[in-house]
Amino acid sequence: MAVTANVPHDVTDLGLADTGKSAIEWAEASMPVLRAIRERFEAEKPLAGLTLAACLHVTTETANLMRTLKAGGADVYLCASNPLSTQDETAAALVVHYGVPTFARTGEDNDVYYDHIKSVLDTSPAITMDDGADLVSTIHSSRTELLETIIGGTEETTTGVIRLRSMGEDGVLKFPIVAVNEANTKHFFDNRYGTGQSTVDGILRATNILLAGKNFVVVGYGWCGRGLASRAEGMGANVIVTEVDPTRALEAVMDGYRVMPMMEAAAIGDIFVTMTGDKHVVDTHHMDVMKSGAIVANSGHFDVEINVASLAEMSTSRRTVRPFLEEFVQKDGRKIYLLGEGRLINLASAEGHPASVMDMSFANQALAAEYMKDNATTLEPRVYSVPEDMDAEIARLKLESMGIEIDTLTDEQETYLGSWEEGT
Ligand code: ADE
Repeated sequence: MAVTANVPHDVTDLGLADTGKSAIEWAEASMPVLRAIRERFEAEKPLAGLTLAACLHVTTETANLMRTLKAGGADVYLCASNPLSTQDETAAALVVHYGVPTFARTGEDNDVYYDHIKSVLDTSPAITMDDGADLVSTIHSSRTELLETIIGGTEETTTGVIRLRSMGEDGVLKFPIVAVNEANTKHFFDNRYGTGQSTVDGILRATNILLAGKNFVVVGYGWCGRGLASRAEGMGANVIVTEVDPTRALEAVMDGYRVMPMMEAAAIGDIFVTMTGDKHVVDTHHMDVMKSGAIVANSGHFDVEINVASLAEMSTSRRTVRPFLEEFVQKDGRKIYLLGEGRLINLASAEGHPASVMDMSFANQALAAEYMKDNATTLEPRVYSVPEDMDAEIARLKLESMGIEIDTLTDEQETYLGSWEEGT
């Protein structure tokens, strides 16, 4: 029997909906904080009457966020924030089982990607929820009429926050944004442990190589780079870090890694993973000196970190060896392998961050949407951090869900911390 749907959508195959539903339920079991918020939202309906456009990776974890926002009374519309990260079964389940209008097909081309963005923006949202700032940037560049109904937005990722801050500094940002990425309960966990683990997962699913004994080059030592370096080291790789920031480079040295310029690392690395948020950090002159067999992957938000166009140009042939693994043969016979077209490998060939870290990231998203609804009229058009008490409450709830208790300050300690008279 053909599966039917009552909400607008553009997904690959509605017939995948049941498979998607059980995967969404599996993820939900590891998302207790988000579930607690959903239960409160169901009772209080804090987002009633609000239209919310979300541009996120369409995964089982995102599906649970959509359920939460919907439970809060919002009309939610979802499109993909990356052409390769959509889980088609999740998209189908959102449409069929959860009534969330979803516009996402894995492997969609650039035109379809922007058609999907258009579909969610055509709903005249009050709140935008971005992962990479594509909704906000589209609104400001070509859909300015939407500024009339928009009260604010939220942003999930480092790259998006950088884009939005630069819009704020240039005075072009027209509505307030809560930078979810800045919450401690987001970047300390999602960026570090989530990206660390899921990047290794993506590389292994695409290649099935042994990491032990390999020279593993981590390009960029932000929270994601720190997480990846420690996970790769844990699997026996010799980690090399490249950086442009002296403090981060120093931290990498004291964390026990070799630090060197990219040009030196290029000649000795077996695997290169970019996570800088910047352009062409693996460029022609680096690929020119790489060993035959070198593997190059990206786990940063956009597919700009590796100069893929140049790699294609400098190669005499290109072929797909297995899913997400392409071989580029060089004039001198060397072979360079590119994973997932240079798109974020942790979501292209793997499933992104596990649910238990997305639990905190998306708890921040849900509460940030509620905060925006309650406070938008008093906020200026700039990028705001997540309120500290909200961030701390998410950590408290997460610990509680894990059955872990911690100490509290005594009155004496509280007074001591608040005084300056007491010294030696
Ligand atoms: N970003 C990284 N991992 C993710 C996931 N599992 N779901 C949504 N967004 C993500």
